[in-house]
Amino acid sequence: MARFTLPRDVYHGKDALEALKSFKGKKAIICVGGGSMKRFGFLDKAEQYLKEAGMEVKIFDGIEPDPSVETVMRGAEVMLEFQPDWIVAIGGGSPIDAAKAMWIKYEYPDCTFEDMCKVFGIPELRKKAKFCAVSSTSGTATEVTAFSIITDYAKGIKYPIADFEITPDVAIVDPALAQTMPKKLVAHTGMDAITHAVEAYVSTAHCDYTDPLAIHAIEMIQNDLVDSYNGDTAARDRMHNAQCLAGMAFSNALLGIVHSMAHKTGAAFADYGAHIIHGAANAMYLPKVIAFNAKDEEAKKRYGVIVDYMGIADSSASDDEKVEALIAYLRKMNDALNIPHGIKYYGADSYPTENGFVPEDVFLSRLHDIAVNAIGDACTGSNPRQPSVEEMEKLLKCCYYDTEVDF
Ligand SMILES: NC(=O)c1ccc[n+]([C@@H]2O[C@H](COP(=O)([O-])OP(=O)(O)OC[C@H]3O[C@@H](n4cnc5c(N)ncnc54)[C@H](O)[C@@H]3O)[C@@H](O)[C@H]2O)c1
Ligand SMILES: [Zn+2]
Repeated sequence: MARFTLPRDVYHGKDALEALKSFKGKKAIICVGGGSMKRFGFLDKAEQYLKEAGMEVKIFDGIEPDPSVETVMRGAEVMLEFQPDWIVAIGGGSPIDAAKAMWIKYEYPDCTFEDMCKVFGIPELRKKAKFCAVSSTSGTATEVTAFSIITDYAKGIKYPIADFEITPDVAIVDPALAQTMPKKLVAHTGMDAITHAVEAYVSTAHCDYTDPLAIHAIEMIQNDLVDSYNGDTAARDRMHNAQCLAGMAFSNALLGIVHSMAHKTGAAFADYGAHIIHGAANAMYLPKVIAFNAKDEEAKKRYGVIVDYMGIADSSASDDEKVEALIAYLRKMNDALNIPHGIKYYGADSYPTENGFVPEDVFLSRLHDIAVNAIGDACTGSNPRQPSVEEMEKLLKCCYYDTEVDF
């Protein structure tokens, strides 16, 4: 038996945020990040709409990018005191993911972070509160997914919490929120979205329900991401939907080792003063992983189908040629979005540079541990080709030096 789970309601399009006015409940807590939602007026609007719905509203703000276990525990304490029956998370992947984990702890105060990380091991939620996610970035699609990514800074590792229990009850995909994103965020979150769709399409858990969502998302992102980056507001609106479709696909089809590697490298060099931003990591690793996975015949065929839909190779081309075309196309997208091709060239500001912030000797000294951690990541199991530790080390080296994957 297979399962396909989505939120009960997805409100999308112009003024979708107003759906909050129709919510039924007594108390709502709004979870939000560092200030962009307040600055652009969306937080005030959400608060006002919930009040119009007759609810008492509390705001938990200051959730940092790549949220920590500590923030999750702090938020859960506030929820335990306030006792909301709605949790409304507004912002990018970070505040929404943090709120999902707070929700678990609120419903089950004895649940530890280690308990939460047991894949598909979350007890039944919604005994205290329902969950609404309002996305302000066009990438993670956490408003419709069964995932939450929390960083354990003591270990320098991002842990995915995965369970359909944390798929939100309501998703609000209002394009107005995406219009205020700075260019860099458009680039990173957009490449995150295409990675979701491509990984979902070739995942061993893909199915007839997820394939059309993944393919349509890829076509939309191909058409709209670079234009959105360059300021086309209609393309920006469409990207907000495209990333959500990609999310619906991967929440049910799962992901692959691009994400395993991004999770395990993201915070691994934080002591050198920067993160490798999730979407940028995916953008750098995706072409390498496609070359690696294409050694699996079934995956190669499926990359070929993606290329047929994208129309970027002659239909008489061989599958090997189609894989090459896909890799070349994605690299061109990275160039158009000012994203480097390898960790060695990844500046602390995320832009391409000759000497990135991760020194070679530091990378090599941590390589083995990162490879072992990446293989142990929850996303590895559904990758079409299972790498050995040695292969993962080689793959990560290719991602560092931007060298070709020929194994
Ligand atoms: N849950 C999932 O399924 C899933 C999937 C992929 C990634 N993630 C995780 O999500 C996190 C990244 O989320 P993200 O990429 O959405 O970014 P984010 O939430 O970390 O936000 C990044 C920055 O952009 C600002 N911002 C957000 N929306 C804005 C807007 N509309 N206008 C102006 N500024 C805005 C924020 O204030 C913040 O400073 C990572 O921790 C990643 O691991 C989760
Ligand atoms: Zn992602």
